[in-house]
Amino acid sequence: MAAQRLDGKALAATMRSEIAARVAERARAGKRVPGLAAVLVGEDPASQQYVKNKHKACQDAGLATTVHRLPASTTQAELLELVARLNADPAVHGILVQLPLPKQIDDGAIIRAVSPSKDVDCFHPENVGLLAAGHPRFYPCTPHGVLQLLERNGIATAGKEVVVVGRSNIVGKPLAVMLMQKPTATNPAAGDATVTVAHTRTRGLADVCRRADILIAAAGVPGIVTAEMVKPGAAVVDVGTNNVDGRWLGDVHKDVESVAGWLSPVPGGVGPMTITMLLYNTLDAAKQIDG
Ligand code: GUN
Repeated sequence: MAAQRLDGKALAATMRSEIAARVAERARAGKRVPGLAAVLVGEDPASQQYVKNKHKACQDAGLATTVHRLPASTTQAELLELVARLNADPAVHGILVQLPLPKQIDDGAIIRAVSPSKDVDCFHPENVGLLAAGHPRFYPCTPHGVLQLLERNGIATAGKEVVVVGRSNIVGKPLAVMLMQKPTATNPAAGDATVTVAHTRTRGLADVCRRADILIAAAGVPGIVTAEMVKPGAAVVDVGTNNVDGRWLGDVHKDVESVAGWLSPVPGGVGPMTITMLLYNTLDAAKQIDG
């Protein structure tokens, strides 16, 4: 039997209209419109597409959004100067510097320069630490999107065996942290799960994956998760967005469709959820900063 679809596109549309309604409510109350500043350095085609999608989603939800496009030759000092200006701008509640950055710029220095209170990516070490300690200021967008996609499709994580394939700072690592944590009033997006983090160097990767009630593929390797690695009926979430010759390919092989109980498509699964959680964080930042 074919897996049920974890439809991120449909859920994102629902959640974006909820966010748009809250943005409109704030405007009626005379509050400043939540503002996102996106910064794109260079011409990387995938980054250009991501930023374009984020910008359009913000506009559609009634958020104030600006894109700052800088040439690939931009120096670290120039980028730091822009970030300092955005940190000081009261119309900007969220700052997103699209990664990767050109070689001459140290990603870490830029991430640390963004004000933690405007860090809607949740990449700043202060915010990573708060998340790991169970006191999040923001949730990172893709991990939060994955948890929402599961929860809003009625797939409980509490007590389940969850295997995360991938250990990146953007997805695998923070997702594992969120999945293992105990939910509290101030940390609701927590999975209460038994979590295993695997990666491309894991010995017996197929056996490890087959333990999973919920399998998250976030290795950035097209088709790395195949049917024989999936327990029949398991929920499989494909976080892979691999641009191969202009086509978007997931980390999950298409043969998984016939074994999994649930499967998120690429595109139309996690991608739209990531953007939705960015809108959520920008609204949240406005509430934290302006009240
Ligand atoms: N590059 C790939 N994913 C992301 C993301 O979620 N945020 C930023 N800023 N850059 C990225």
